Amino acid sequence: MRDKIVLRNISKVFTRDERELRALIDINIDVKEGEFLSIVGPSGCGKSTLLNIIAGLLKPTTGEISLDGQLLKGINTKIGYITQRDNLLPWRTTRGNIEIGLEIRGVAKSERKSRAMELIDRVGLAGFDDHFPNELSGGMRKRASLARTLIYNPDVFLMDEPFSAVDAQTRLILENQLLELWSGTGNTIIFVTHDLEEAISLSDRVIVFSARPGTAKAVNSIPLTRPRDTIKIRFNEDFIKIYGSIWKDLEEEVGKAEELKTKAELEKAREDQEGFRTSIDEDTGL
Ligand SMILES: Nc1ncnc2c1ncn2[C@@H]1O[C@H](COP(=O)(O)OP(=O)(O)OP(=O)(O)O)[C@@H](O)[C@H]1O
Ligand SMILES: [Mg+2]
Repeated sequence: MRDKIVLRNISKVFTRDERELRALIDINIDVKEGEFLSIVGPSGCGKSTLLNIIAGLLKPTTGEISLDGQLLKGINTKIGYITQRDNLLPWRTTRGNIEIGLEIRGVAKSERKSRAMELIDRVGLAGFDDHFPNELSGGMRKRASLARTLIYNPDVFLMDEPFSAVDAQTRLILENQLLELWSGTGNTIIFVTHDLEEAISLSDRVIVFSARPGTAKAVNSIPLTRPRDTIKIRFNEDFIKIYGSIWKDLEEEVGKAEELKTKAELEKAREDQEGFRTSIDEDTGL
């Protein structure tokens, strides 16, 4: 399979209050065309930062990204980006929200409507086209946000913890529906999740990121056959073995991230303490 997205030597350093924070370091990943690739890693290791860079919303400090062999410059309009928060516009109905991408592209009203209605059906929202976001459940909002991206037919999807805010049962259903929608399309998906079971059941490969600065620590192929049932597959012996081996890597990084967090909290407490002392000194003139 040919490479769809190539990431070379990507790093990202954020500077804030004259302090540098290294979010990503030395990222080299080749994403194959039609691949379902997941990224798992501890909180704060730079997963969302990497998706923002691939979408062209954020410039990397070093490195290059190419899509279909072309170097990426600026915002990448060929990519569908489903962010963690669904960002549905509260004053628009389900259909109104789904049509946005076509409206921006100047597509005629009748075509917009027929394409939106077809997608509403496909993602399981039939009968809710004229409901407003506050009248939808969490799972329905996720479906609407998926349809809003599907409507402009991107061939690459970036999904940042798309199901994290929905209940466990709905999540399993949405995962299966995502696989059904994706199957046979040849679309490429980069999926970020904290849930290792979700990553394994959906993906062709799972990349474990290290604690910050994030880098690809281990790349794991998932040799489970398709079509998959994301619920039943979790009882499969091979699945359990794969889970065990990837979890070892992930657990270590989650542990390191916790240490980093504790260190940062201690530093913050020390700084607050020093600030407190300085203000006492100033108040008392000592
Ligand atoms: N715009 C920014 N300016 C400064 N620091 C930032 C910015 N965006 C992210 N960071 C920092 O970069 C690091 C990586 O953040 P990022 O959101 O990519 O992590 P993540 O892996 O997606 O975490 P989570 O799993 O909690 O969503 C964090 O320490 C974060 O505070
Ligand atoms: Mg994130």
